[in-house]
Amino acid sequence: MATPPPTADWYRRFAELEAAGHSAVYEDWALGVAGDPAVLALIEALPFPKRQPNLILACARLLGAPEGGYVEFRHWLLDNWDAVAGQARVRMTQTNEARRCAALLPALARIDGPLALIELGASAGLCLYPDRYSYDLGGERIDPPTGPSPVLLSSDYSGPVPTVLPEVTWRAGSDLNPLDVGSTDDVRWLTTLIWPEQHERRERLSAAIQLVAADPPLLLRGDAIDTLDDLLARVPVGATPVVQTSGMLVYLPFESRMRLVERIRASGARWVSLEAVGALPTVRERLPEERPGAYVLGLDERPLAWVGPHGQFVEWIQGA
Ligand SMILES: C[S@@+](CC[C@H](N)C(=O)[O-])C[C@H]1O[C@@H](n2cnc3c(N)ncnc32)[C@H](O)[C@@H]1O
Repeated sequence: MATPPPTADWYRRFAELEAAGHSAVYEDWALGVAGDPAVLALIEALPFPKRQPNLILACARLLGAPEGGYVEFRHWLLDNWDAVAGQARVRMTQTNEARRCAALLPALARIDGPLALIELGASAGLCLYPDRYSYDLGGERIDPPTGPSPVLLSSDYSGPVPTVLPEVTWRAGSDLNPLDVGSTDDVRWLTTLIWPEQHERRERLSAAIQLVAADPPLLLRGDAIDTLDDLLARVPVGATPVVQTSGMLVYLPFESRMRLVERIRASGARWVSLEAVGALPTVRERLPEERPGAYVLGLDERPLAWVGPHGQFVEWIQGA
């Protein structure tokens, strides 16, 4: 039997390891693509990063692919491939999940404030507002000092629960392609990036977008490495600069990622990371074990807790 092309493996792994249990539609579509030479050939004509399952499936839905079974999806995809490929060429996956703030809190609580937050790979900047959301942390409620927020972020906590929110006096970020919460097109893309059955996430996204739109963040357009100094130079006197990276390091090829790590270390800023286990070697080396599917919350490259990739849970690492 011929070895399956890597794209088929990519789609099969996506179906089995990522979509299964979270989106029956994406699981079905990705498995269908993995076994479909005609569709694989179209996808493989795209540059490698643009073949990503999450990107192709979201572009198809953006253009109106029916959320039914694979046969119907395939028919639609073949009819609309040029438009889907056109979208994939100009878009990136930029999922912005406000609930990650619930998982960032324990690290932020360990830094003396007031804080100046700098998020690299910020997407639309929804994770720059940890002080403006309300939280249900394993049954413990925390609200901003001004009162309950219209956005409630729930996370299952095991271990100590922060009792106050960080004082954030300044916030800004950068992204290769910053998304604007005031743009209909950007909001539609952010919404489409959420998988079909994840209605709760779509509601949270919409509420967070409204909150952020009332006071949008400064977001610079550019590579994380190239924009870091500019952002640091803008930090107001008296605030502690905190670099925040969440779900973004994997986007950087290893060498660029290590260059970014060096630059953050040399900057003297504190660094809060919420990343996949393999994304930061120094954090990985300090882990007592690995947890399949979990991300790691780190402070200055020291692991503090296992966390759900979207902030669904926080579990303290022993001795952290
Ligand atoms: C999955 S999103 C995460 C967004 C946000 N940090 C969050 O946790 O919700 C990753 C973001 O990183 C951005 N990105 C990827 N490579 C980048 C780079 N080299 N420099 C700056 N941003 C980058 C992408 O455009 C995307 O918006």
